[in-house]
Amino acid sequence: MSEIAVAAARLAEAGVESPRADAELMAAHRHGVARSRLNLVSDAEFDPRFWDDVARREAREPLQHITGSSYFRYLELAVGPGVFVPRPETEVMTGWAIDRLNEMDVAEPVVADLGAGSGAIALAIAQEVPRARMHAVEADPLARSWTERNIARCAAAAPHISGRVTLHADDFASALPGLDGAVDLVISNPPYIPVGADVPPEVGEYEPPSALYSGADGLDAIRVVERVARRLLRPGGRVAVEHGAKQGTAVYWVFAEENGWTQTRNHCDLAGLDRFVTAVWP
Ligand SMILES: C[S@@+](CC[C@H](N)C(=O)[O-])C[C@H]1O[C@@H](n2cnc3c(N)ncnc32)[C@H](O)[C@@H]1O
Repeated sequence: MSEIAVAAARLAEAGVESPRADAELMAAHRHGVARSRLNLVSDAEFDPRFWDDVARREAREPLQHITGSSYFRYLELAVGPGVFVPRPETEVMTGWAIDRLNEMDVAEPVVADLGAGSGAIALAIAQEVPRARMHAVEADPLARSWTERNIARCAAAAPHISGRVTLHADDFASALPGLDGAVDLVISNPPYIPVGADVPPEVGEYEPPSALYSGADGLDAIRVVERVARRLLRPGGRVAVEHGAKQGTAVYWVFAEENGWTQTRNHCDLAGLDRFVTAVWP
């Protein structure tokens, strides 16, 4: 499709980071073919609505809002206005949690996902650790409508997920009181951008502020997650929390020995950037 080169040039001019890939993915979505088969779309089949999609992306609307879906580990999730688009760096933390759960000598490990958004973390764990019981906590009603939709969609595609993910409409600060001291793993990708920090238009103009910002240093929600994890975890339970690339040292000290934690570790994402902290409740 010669249109791809024109679209990619327009997106590059608009400051889009990966213009060629985005143009191809939008064309593949619009024409209902795999990206690798775009060369088989003839001029006669070309759908002019592709140019509407290009205009939206030029305005820096997230690619995933235009295609309506986002891939996370082995899942395809519905996303759009009002919910945070899952990121590849979160896949690494989720993979760490899946490995630890698979090692646990517990019949049905209980897991709390604090700030569920699209449901990416909870659903990936439910899919890959079928014996896990997931509790997904989300305060934002609009985000929760996407979580619900994805729970239904993923359960239809993978029936073993059905009934394994419970969504709780709650602030995670006070959530899941009935599970105090009974949770095997707490995982969270909370908001962690300092208020007032510069972000790309795709983030600042299209993603929900409650998914992004958290106090002057970006650590307010992480401090809450630390307190909640202390309350929820059983002895020997584990916590994993995502953070910004420059927050590794600060978050390490949130989970310090003085607060009772052991085996606190920093972990990197696939780009080699500091990305999440894990610790064990003694
Ligand atoms: C960065 S997004 C992460 C979403 C999803 N877990 C992911 O990794 O793609 C953070 C989510 O936490 C939710 N959130 C923020 N503060 C919360 C709170 N105090 N209680 C419950 N949910 C909260 C936001 O609404 C948002 O959906």
